[in-house]
Order: sequence, then structure tokens, then C-alpha cells
Amino acid sequence: MVLIAGVVVDAMREADVPEVQAIERDVFLTPWPRNAYYRELAHNHAARYIVLRHGPEILGYGGLWRVGEEAHVTTIGVRRPDQGRGYGAVLFAALLTRAYQMGARWVTLEVRASNDVAIHLYEGFGFRVMGRRRGYYTDDGEDAIVMWSDSLHAPAFKARFRLRVAALTIPGVGPPPPVEYPIR
Ligand SMILES: CC(C)(COP(=O)(O)OP(=O)(O)OC[C@H]1O[C@@H](n2cnc3c(N)ncnc32)[C@H](O)[C@@H]1OP(=O)(O)O)[C@@H](O)C(=O)NCCC(=O)NCCS
Repeated sequence: MVLIAGVVVDAMREADVPEVQAIERDVFLTPWPRNAYYRELAHNHAARYIVLRHGPEILGYGGLWRVGEEAHVTTIGVRRPDQGRGYGAVLFAALLTRAYQMGARWVTLEVRASNDVAIHLYEGFGFRVMGRRRGYYTDDGEDAIVMWSDSLHAPAFKARFRLRVAALTIPGVGPPPPVEYPIR
């Protein structure tokens, strides 16, 4: 794994949206509608969006919504040339920390059935496949795999999270999630 010093996880800002959308257009088959990020950042208080910054550049981004006791990961993407270097894991760990901070108890997401890399990433954090939505993606009719975390407060989930984050040796990424995560 090659990681770049000086990379930080930060809240997404309005000024980041064009670069986020450029990454999104490159790595997703169907990007979100043009104004979606601006609307989300301005009005959706149940959402959190983050970016991975390296100086003036954005390497990746992610977001989630809290819906009751659940957090739904709505998006996660890493710039194509920087994929496979651990940044997806950094972003996902940061999203889980935010889900916890927002009071969510479980985290869920949908992923394309063919997306082995993403499924592997989520399984690494203890997520499990709990269902399949046939033809969920309207652009090409692909099925979605539905994945869920265990309770964020379950000892096994906590232990796995700590192990996974400890394995992320990322110089300069900024403060890791609190060591007591996710205790409540
Ligand atoms: C999915 C995505 C966010 C993962 O981010 P990433 O930075 O590429 O992933 P990481 O480098 O953190 O690797 C995560 C895991 O996948 C593995 N992996 C990464 N790239 C891989 C590849 N090309 N083939 C096989 N495994 C791979 C890594 O080894 C790692 O597993 P490990 O910790 O057990 O070693 C990124 O690939 C992406 O943006 N894809 C396009 C958008 C997308 O599909 N988003 C998810 C929608 S649900």
C-alpha cells in the first residue's frame, strides 16, 4: 500500500463539488444529478459528506444519511489513479466514525453485485450481505447487494474496527477515530 503524506479527511464544502463530480463522472456509471451535492450540503442536516484532501487536490469522497438508528452510506469514490492504495478504507472508516457520532446504531448500504472491490472493502469492516435487490440499478438493470454492519456497539464490531483502523498506517491523515470507538 502506498500512501501519501499530508492526506487529510475533511468535511466536503461547496467549493469541492466540481472536483467531486469530476471524480464521480469517471468512476460511476450514473453520477448524481447536477445539483444534488449542493442541495445536500445546504439542506440535508441528516447527511454528512467528506473528502480526502491532498493539498489542493481531492483524492476521494463519501457520504451518508442518518435515518433513525440507521446510517445509509450513499456514496464513496476514490479517484481512479489512486484506487487500490488504501484510501477507500480510510474514507469508509471515517464514514463509520461519523455514523457513530450521529447516533446511528447500524450502517447499511447497497452495492452493485459485480463490485468485488467495494464488497471486499465493506466485508473487511465486518459488513455482511443481508439481501439482494433485483434490477435495482436502473441504468443497466444490475442487482444490488444489500449489506449491513453489526451493531456499532457490538464488541466484535468494535474489535474489528480497531484492528482495521490500526492497519491503516497513513501519515498525516489527521486524528484517527477515537480509540474508544465505538463505545457507548
Ligand atoms: C470501491 C472504492 C471506493 C474502494 O477504494 P480503494 O481506495 O480503491 O480501495 P482500498 O485501496 O482502500 O482497498 C480496499 C480493499 O479492496 C482491495 N482492493 C483494492 N483494489 C483492488 C482490486 N483492483 N482488485 C482486488 N482487490 C482490490 C484492497 O486490497 C483492500 O482490501 P484489503 O484491505 O483486504 O487489502 C474505489 O475502488 C472506487 O472508487 N470505486 C469506484 C466507485 C465505487 O464502486 N464505489 C462504491 C460504490 S458502493
